[in-house]
Amino acid sequence: MKMKAGCSQFKPVVLVFIFNSCFYASYQLNELQVCELCSGAVLNGTAVGRFCSASAGRIDGRCCLKHDNRRDPEHIIGLDLSNCSLTHVEELHGASTALIIDLSLNLIVNISDTAFQGFLELNQVILPRDIVCPGGNIYWEKVEVTEGNRICEGQKNMCNQTGQLSINCPENSLCAPYGPSFFECSCADNFHGYKCLREGEFPGLLVFGSLWASTAVISFLLWLTQRRKAKSL
Ligand SMILES: *[C@@H]1O[C@H](CO)[C@@H](O)[C@H](O)[C@H]1NC(C)=O
Ligand SMILES: *[C@@H]1O[C@H](CO)[C@@H](O)[C@H](O)[C@H]1NC(C)=O
Ligand SMILES: *[C@@H]1O[C@H](CO)[C@@H](O)[C@H](O)[C@H]1NC(C)=O
Ligand SMILES: *[C@@H]1O[C@H](CO)[C@@H](O)[C@H](O)[C@H]1NC(C)=O
Repeated sequence: MKMKAGCSQFKPVVLVFIFNSCFYASYQLNELQVCELCSGAVLNGTAVGRFCSASAGRIDGRCCLKHDNRRDPEHIIGLDLSNCSLTHVEELHGASTALIIDLSLNLIVNISDTAFQGFLELNQVILPRDIVCPGGNIYWEKVEVTEGNRICEGQKNMCNQTGQLSINCPENSLCAPYGPSFFECSCADNFHGYKCLREGEFPGLLVFGSLWASTAVISFLLWLTQRRKAKSL
């Protein structure tokens, strides 16, 4: 019996903890944290260094940053985590706008399957020679092994309907690339639901309609009870 009471007392704490850890996980490595993953800065002679000066970017720690004029904030266009003592690459999502990523000179044993999901711009990855390109070598236009490094260049378009890699999205949906070996299907206009099988307007009115109705009913009940209380006073 005591255990139960203890448990129910702890519930809010557990919920808050779960909420916090979810929140933390989804924002784990933001832009600047990725740039500070290891000490030092991008060096001039390296692949990312050359790319950065050619693109008129600004070096900050292990990153090359640039803004596309106007309102946009600065974002990462290059990431150099070479010689960083990395063994596992779980996620680098702060750098999802990068065009070039260098992970060479690390004793990497494992790169998570989803590490580069959503990296739409990624055009060159430099890895230790024994590591396969993100998603698999076949998902890159060109794979080269030189001087102990593997260089993966040019993501293949996963939505090419005539090529070997074509993977059809369900009927009534549109395919869009979503990083190396990934693609995304989104329902075409006027279709929705599981596999885009339902046609017609999304039943927005119905959902919001019933929400309105229940709010009205609850408000009315509250009003009734308050009125009774007021009367009995
Ligand atoms: C890198 O090159 C820039 C100009 O090209 C120079 O100002 C800077 O000192 C160089 N940095 C290093 C570490 O060599
Ligand atoms: C890697 O980093 C170490 C120190 O952290 C340095 O002594 C070594 O020269 C670096 N290697 C290369 C190839 O840059
Ligand atoms: C690599 O990571 C995956 C999950 O992220 C795990 O299942 C697998 O065992 C790991 N492999 C090695 C060699 O650590
Ligand atoms: C689609 O794939 C074919 C064969 O692999 C290739 O010739 C063609 O250029 C590709 N088209 C696009 C838009 O990538």
